[in-house]
Amino acid sequence: MTLGLFGYGTVGESLYKLIETTPELGVTIKKVCVRYNDKKRSAPKELFTVNRDEILKDPDIDTVVELISDADAAYTIVKFAIEHGKHVVTANKKMLAAHLPELIALHKQHNVSLLYEASACGSIPIIRNLEEYYDNDKLYSIKGVVNGSTNYILTSMFEEQKSFKEALAKAQELGFAEADPSLDIEGHDAANKWCILLKHAYGIDVHPSNLTYTGIESIDEADASYATERGWVIRLVAYACALPNGKTAAFVIPAFVHKTDQLAFVRHEYNGVVMDTKFSSIQFLYGKGAGGNPTAGAVLSDISTLRYHYTYEYRKQHFSEQNSLSDDYFVQAYVRYPSSAEAPTHYFVAMNEWQNNGDTNFVKGTVHASLLPKLLQEKHYTVVLLPNAVVSSEDVKALDKVSGKIHVPTLN
Ligand code: HSE
Repeated sequence: MTLGLFGYGTVGESLYKLIETTPELGVTIKKVCVRYNDKKRSAPKELFTVNRDEILKDPDIDTVVELISDADAAYTIVKFAIEHGKHVVTANKKMLAAHLPELIALHKQHNVSLLYEASACGSIPIIRNLEEYYDNDKLYSIKGVVNGSTNYILTSMFEEQKSFKEALAKAQELGFAEADPSLDIEGHDAANKWCILLKHAYGIDVHPSNLTYTGIESIDEADASYATERGWVIRLVAYACALPNGKTAAFVIPAFVHKTDQLAFVRHEYNGVVMDTKFSSIQFLYGKGAGGNPTAGAVLSDISTLRYHYTYEYRKQHFSEQNSLSDDYFVQAYVRYPSSAEAPTHYFVAMNEWQNNGDTNFVKGTVHASLLPKLLQEKHYTVVLLPNAVVSSEDVKALDKVSGKIHVPTLN
């Protein structure tokens, strides 16, 4: 197998070293394309080029490995490579989330593989797992901590009393924050990964702009104290579940997580995914979601599967009954707000806790999911979901028969 590699950052360099130390794979890197060729690097100078055509137009190179951070440039490279009959391995979650349906159609048309295990949860083999398992075993739900930086910040702040700034600086220093850390903090990175995983879990095509998500920027001590008093911690939780209406609920929103929950065990930069299925019940995958060797290990694993012509089949796209999203469900949410005049009570169909003492103000209760995008946009509110937050409309309707009170508010 002859590779052309794009990018020689943390992951690219680690991959080069892993390939050097694994000669039995029979993989050779013929060229590495970088943006600037003026740095001293850990590989021979003649390996590097700044001309992408030296890889893309080289007929000896059968596989392109794309590990750059610029999503637009990555898209151009990946598309060109596929159209010219090369297999592609990429870790570019932003690029994939934005273009997945098109790239899937394209690689099938050109009869080459497009593999991207490292794009979601780094070293955790979650995509291949979702591809190969749970065909017959119904996936009731999947939830995960899929962004290491936000998880590092949340655990450092609330379990080790560091400040947000300090924790973020450390995440940057350790090399797992994005070059633009707002991609982590505002939830964009987790949303990109979740869009990729939803395709493999349920066959859902969703662009990040159509996914309900937010980040951790407004979570503070008041929320952490609320959690601690109840034996909970806070995680940025990516969640999806099959609804009784035959569709799927999905979002990425901070959530209170019981200390005994698998996701509470996921601390610092680690990632974790919990699947609940009809036959297997609960399964928990845990590991490093970022970093040179863990991510390069996943890339190398993709490269290695190409030796037996592995390709994703996207079976859920054709066979899953749950392959479209619905916002017809409810969530149990806690919403903290700055002053009495701004109480978000109009979002709730039912409230079961309300503290309005001017110091820390919050409402806890039930919100229809169709209102979540608007609620999350109101940046003066902090929204944290309760453990087991999703309640189906069917369940709420059953309650409705008892109380006769539930109706979803219409907001302008
Ligand atoms: N910034 C990402 C994270 C890197 O913190 O999870 C790995 O995708």
